[in-house]
This record gives sequence, structure tokens and C-alpha cells, in this order.
Amino acid sequence: MRPYELIKAKRDGQVLQSPDIRAFIDAYTKGDVTDYQMSAMCMAVFFRGLNAVELGAWTRAMLESGEVLDLSETKGIKVDKHSTGGVGDKVSLSLAPLAAACGVPVPMISGRGLGHTGGTLDKLESIPGFRVDLSVADYRRLVRDVGCCLIGQTATLAPADKKLYALRDVTATVDCIPLIASSIMSKKMAEGIDALVLDVKVGSGAFMKTLDDARTLARTMIGIGNEMGKKVVALLTDMDQPLGRAVGNSLEVIEAVEMLRRQAPADYTEITLALTSEMLVLGGKAKDDAEARKLLFAAMDSGAAERKFCEIVKAQGGDPAAITDLSKLPRARTLVPVLAPQDGVVTAIASEAIGLAAMMLGAGRAKSSDVIDPAVGFMLEKKVGDTVKKGEALVTMHVNDDARVKEVTERVIAAYALGAKAPAQRPLVLERIG
Ligand code: URA
Repeated sequence: MRPYELIKAKRDGQVLQSPDIRAFIDAYTKGDVTDYQMSAMCMAVFFRGLNAVELGAWTRAMLESGEVLDLSETKGIKVDKHSTGGVGDKVSLSLAPLAAACGVPVPMISGRGLGHTGGTLDKLESIPGFRVDLSVADYRRLVRDVGCCLIGQTATLAPADKKLYALRDVTATVDCIPLIASSIMSKKMAEGIDALVLDVKVGSGAFMKTLDDARTLARTMIGIGNEMGKKVVALLTDMDQPLGRAVGNSLEVIEAVEMLRRQAPADYTEITLALTSEMLVLGGKAKDDAEARKLLFAAMDSGAAERKFCEIVKAQGGDPAAITDLSKLPRARTLVPVLAPQDGVVTAIASEAIGLAAMMLGAGRAKSSDVIDPAVGFMLEKKVGDTVKKGEALVTMHVNDDARVKEVTERVIAAYALGAKAPAQRPLVLERIG
């Protein structure tokens, strides 16, 4: 079928045949299907969806548009974690060294922040010298010798997704479950893993605003993974307020190291432990959550997890002294408190608005060519359920450029809802699907 006929068939709700999907995506990767044709196809998929067979063919075509890495020279079950993205989500920074310190090899190909969500690569790059652009050969070697490597998507890994994601970003077709699931899973299946833990964020700061949508996305991704012979477990976790207290690149690295020292906020600590525990079980290092947690606490208390973080930093060109002495990480020139306009209890924090305000301060990008400032961001002094007095700090802003302070302050105040009584506490892990 010609591209026009395939687009029309999907627009009219017909089921596409696997060889046609394959040919369409291959032609798009080569440039024979144009961006406007692919945009029309994505919009048709947005409204009509893909059934399980179509989705399998779509994902496989994206996966096989590039190289599928072979990490068989690394012994053990290789397990990665992927988050659908949130605000203050620095889980990968503590989870990767923790899992590696417990003997699970972690090959992790991560992304950059865009819009209101942060990206692991940007956070890691706030560590002086840290390189995320290593070659595939170095990636393979570090997974084998260090037990973990965190890099960015290479040009040869799922190139169809790289092109397609950029297109979806400007054609209002990002928030579409089959397109998100195939995008994430094609990249994850290309990185050489045996098993995967998914952190599907739910709430105001996440792509998935409702539990039902998050469940559907999780089940869709698990289905794709299983069909490709991989074990996949998903935790649906709360993103109705930013995770932990730090939002901003260097600030999040500091909080991640503090987590390994057991000094981090309880919500961030618990979500990291729950996800890493799943990795230890999938990786064959623990028989259940209780046993996994014993290993995780031992790795933190003995210092093994922090030493593993230093080892990873050193292997990727960074300065491990910036981990053992956190004052060596980039710090902003000025701290500016955002003061509560009235007494009350924090009933909600609009995570997406906080993420966007951090972006305005320089911690994130509005477009992919923007340069970020690693030092700036927020420390949330008050979280949902906390009591606050008028004039007390809700947030401390870490600022390098005063020009935006007034506007960012207004946005932070607007993001905080203050009421008379604390809302019912939401569980951090809302559901486990596996
Ligand atoms: N993350 C991805 O990698 N792809 C999507 O489509 C959405 C989030």
C-alpha cells in the first residue's frame, strides 16, 4: 500500500497489516515518507489507536530501525528502570548505583529534560566532567566492568523513534498511549536488557493524569516487553506533587547522594527503594521485597552504594570528589525565599507548574537547543499536608539571573494551594502490575 492509502486506512479505523507498518516506518526513517505524512499517521493513531498486533509491529519496526545492543559479555540478568517522567524525579540517580552495588548490572540509556520534566542526563552533567556521550563500546565495557553505565540515546539506537518523537512534540501527538508505549519500549529493548522496571507516574505532574490511563499505559508496555521475551514489572507512582524537595539539576544530584546516605525525604526514598527492590528481584539477587530491602539498606549503610556512585562518576569522566564533598557541585549565587501569602495547610502543589517555573529559572529547556544552568532550581520547604504561617518560606529559589525572579515567584505562589485542613494522604505506590 502507498503511504496515502495507509494513512487513509488508519484514519477510517481499519487495522493495518504488519508488513505495511514495517514498510511505512522504514520509509519514514529513510526520508521516503515525509514528516507531513507521518504527522497525519500519528494523528490518525491518536484517534483510532493500534491493536496489540499493530502495536507489536510498530514497536519492532522502530526497534529494528537501528542497532540492538548485545550485552551478553556481561554476566547476570541486566535490568533497567524507566520513568515516564515527572518533576523532581531523580530516582535513577540513586537507584542505578544502589542496584549495581547489590550486583545487578544496570545498562541505562536516559533522556534529557524538555518542558516541565527534568532529564537524568542533564542532572548527571551537573557533576563536573561527567560525560553521557560515551561510545557504544565504552557503554558495553562499563556495564561489564563497573556494573552500570548511564548514557544518552545514540544516533544508531532506534533512530525512527528519535525522528518521530521530535515530530510528535510539535504536532500534539505525544500524549497518545500506543505512541508513548512504542517509543519507550523500542528504546529500552535496543539497550541490551533482560528485564525492565517501569515507573509510570500518575498525577498533575505526569503525562498520565488518571490511574486508568496509567494502568493502560503500563499494561501496554508490559505486553510489548513480554512479547519480546523480556520480564517487565510496572509500579504506578504518585506524581501529584514534586518528588522529594529538590527540583533542579545539581540540587537533585545532592538529594540523590543524600538518599544513599539515608538523609533524603521519605517520599523520594520510598519510591527509589520500591523500584530498586523490583530490580533486585528481577535480577535474581533477592527472592522478595523484604530480602531486597535488607540488601538495599546494607548497601546504603556500608557506604557501598555511594562508593558505587563515585565509581560510575569516575568511569564516565566525572569528578568523584564532587560526590563525597557535595559543596563541589555547582551552586547558585543567590537564595530567594518564596513566602506564603497567608496561613494554612498545603493541600496541593501543581507539579507541572513547578516544573515550568523551574524551567523559566534556567533549570530546564523550552526547546531542545536551550542551554540549562545546572545550579538553579527550587528546594520545596513545604509539601502537601504541611502547615504554613503567612510569611514563612514555601520554597527557596536558587537563582543566578534576577530578571525572572518576580515572575517565577508569582508562578510558585500560584502553584501552591493552601486550605484549612490536610487532604487524605495518597499512597506513594498506587499499584503494582507485573
Ligand atoms: N518518553 C518517551 O521516550 N517517549 C514518549 O513518547 C513519551 C515519553
